[in-house]
Amino acid sequence: MSKNQGVVKPEAVMEALSKVQDPELKKDLVSLGMIKDLTVEGSKVSLRVELTTPACPLREKIERDVREAVLGVQGVEEADVQMGSRVPRGSMGPQNLNADLHNVIAVASGKGGVGKTTVAVNIAVALARSGACVGLLDADIYGPNVPTMLGLDQLPPAREKKLVPAEVHGVKVMSIAFLVQPGQPLIWRGPMLHSVIQQFITDVDWGELDWLIIDSPPGTGDEPLSIAQLIPATGAVVVTTPQEVSLMDSRKAVVFALKLNLKVMGIIENMSGMVCPHCGKRIDLFKEGGGNKAALELGIPFLGKIPLDPQIVISGDEGKPFVASQPESEASKAFMKIVENIMKGKAH
Ligand SMILES: Nc1ncnc2c1ncn2[C@@H]1O[C@H](COP(=O)(O)OP(=O)(O)O)[C@@H](O)[C@H]1O
Ligand SMILES: [Mg+2]
Ligand SMILES: [Zn+2]
Repeated sequence: MSKNQGVVKPEAVMEALSKVQDPELKKDLVSLGMIKDLTVEGSKVSLRVELTTPACPLREKIERDVREAVLGVQGVEEADVQMGSRVPRGSMGPQNLNADLHNVIAVASGKGGVGKTTVAVNIAVALARSGACVGLLDADIYGPNVPTMLGLDQLPPAREKKLVPAEVHGVKVMSIAFLVQPGQPLIWRGPMLHSVIQQFITDVDWGELDWLIIDSPPGTGDEPLSIAQLIPATGAVVVTTPQEVSLMDSRKAVVFALKLNLKVMGIIENMSGMVCPHCGKRIDLFKEGGGNKAALELGIPFLGKIPLDPQIVISGDEGKPFVASQPESEASKAFMKIVENIMKGKAH
């Protein structure tokens, strides 16, 4: 009989673990890179599960599932499972790619169409109007429309091998849209997309910024996750609309941000009530305040609500950020208030 018979192969253990899902991220632990230091000695398997947040409420369930999967592999008699969590960003990790970017805030949403780009653009301009040095990075590969909303169509010439961001309303802007021909589909995948996103941080002459606002891809699926992992954000704000369906998606977006070790600065409720086109006063429509309720439930700040204002659509289409073109409007005041709240809770 061969001596090796019955020997447990690490690959077999990995294979079994690739069937264990993170209940929140709905992805298996192996693809999430959460399995570390796997060793096999005879019939004993040792490994560490690296959670993305130390406060993971599902820690025990994950530990049980892992243990069960490992013990289910033929030949395994003992499973030594250590639960740990990733070293928080700040001491290591991608944010050290550029020490001059002081607060990197991802604007996220559970799905598209909730006004994520509108919020990112107006927050960036509002921060610049309050005197901060601000950059805006459009990393939404599905709909890179930051340049359109700011009336920009190209970058200035590159300088010393670095891309120079376009600048408007005091905001330095970089977008994936600048790097492709108009009308050309975005078919970047995998490594190419990843290297472009990384270049946005390392090869762009941002200078020193108080705030870098990122319009990130919508949703909480695999692709947004892999892009988010490349972006050295320190905080996130989540944009929602008041409807229950949108709120459900936003809760997922909050969990997503927490998993990335981001400080969730809070929730913004967009298209909340409406500004009367005749008198400029706010009218309450439908149900409101869902964002506030969701924030309370999740124990994160509520940053404020922005009413629906038909003028916002027009300004966006014309490439004029609303907070700059109509600073006295209700919606612009709402943006300024939100920015104050963000500044109060800033990452550092
Ligand atoms: N508060 C608002 N009032 C009126 N229109 C809005 C408001 N917020 C966003 N919009 C409009 O809704 C559409 C979608 O917004 P956008 O920012 O592109 O969403 P997302 O980036 O989430 O897909 C745009 O036409 C935008 O002008
Ligand atoms: Mg958008
Ligand atoms: Zn009115």
